[in-house]
Amino acid sequence: MTGLALITGASSGIGRAFALRLGVEGYDLVAVGRRRDRLDQLVAALPEVQVRPLVADLGTDAGVEAVAEVCAEEPLVVLINNAGVAHYMPFVDLPADKANELLHVKVVAPTMLARAAAPGMVSRGKGTIINVSGMLAFSGPASLEELPLRRAVYTAALAHIVALSQVLHEELKSHGLHVQALCPGVVATEFHERQGLDLSSVARMSADDVVTASLRGLERGEVVCAPGVERSELLDAVFSADLAAFRGQTPQLAGRYRAS
Ligand SMILES: NC(=O)c1ccc[n+]([C@@H]2O[C@H](COP(=O)([O-])OP(=O)(O)OC[C@H]3O[C@@H](n4cnc5c(N)ncnc54)[C@H](OP(=O)(O)O)[C@@H]3O)[C@@H](O)[C@H]2O)c1
Repeated sequence: MTGLALITGASSGIGRAFALRLGVEGYDLVAVGRRRDRLDQLVAALPEVQVRPLVADLGTDAGVEAVAEVCAEEPLVVLINNAGVAHYMPFVDLPADKANELLHVKVVAPTMLARAAAPGMVSRGKGTIINVSGMLAFSGPASLEELPLRRAVYTAALAHIVALSQVLHEELKSHGLHVQALCPGVVATEFHERQGLDLSSVARMSADDVVTASLRGLERGEVVCAPGVERSELLDAVFSADLAAFRGQTPQLAGRYRAS
């Protein structure tokens, strides 16, 4: 199934790897990012492919609206919500404008771009939405000692993406759509160094392998794709436990909260 794919954060890393792979597979592309020179390099790297660079800052309402307009107007077959920043700072040091930018890029943009693209996909009876989250989405219960560099707003944004994708997939699958939350671990891109972290000594997956997992995961019908998790039953156990807790509630106050 080829056609038009829109990829956010196509100027580097995982987004660029998606663009190169889908371009070679015969998709036309809309490539979104802020760095025009990097988008132009992508265009040059795919001379046989129709690539439309779209400069937009998804950290702003205006940027999200501009890209949402394209998602609503163009007959997208694939939407890849990949752009991201993490702002690796302790919560009390995170400036409000940086928190706002992160929430725009990782929460508002994926939500609103999916919101803009889905009606057209439903009316055409096909479409794939890939939302790039990360394994930290499952790290909530970990201690600070185990994950000293994990940050609250970024982790919460990734968890939003997983829940959004799971619920959207259920809602849209009968209309011929597939929604995937893609959850890489640490990937060898510019992501960390651009934000002041040197992870070059840490073993990292390639962006290309992340893309391979995502596309194979779609073929396998996966809604949550975790490229680095060998034992997929571990993910099944997480979701079964989520549902067991959800289904285990009653309208009665639980015994441990009752006065003795
Ligand atoms: N690298 C990892 O270890 C890792 C692990 C788990 C999840 N992820 C997720 O993977 C996604 C891609 O990251 P990456 O590793 O490929 O890092 P990357 O090479 O730094 O790519 C990030 C992309 O997001 C775009 N972007 C950032 N802020 C933007 C904004 N305000 N408006 C528009 N575009 C913006 C960047 O483009 P411009 O700078 O040109 O705007 C760039 O193309 C992110 O969402 C990240 O959360 C990464």
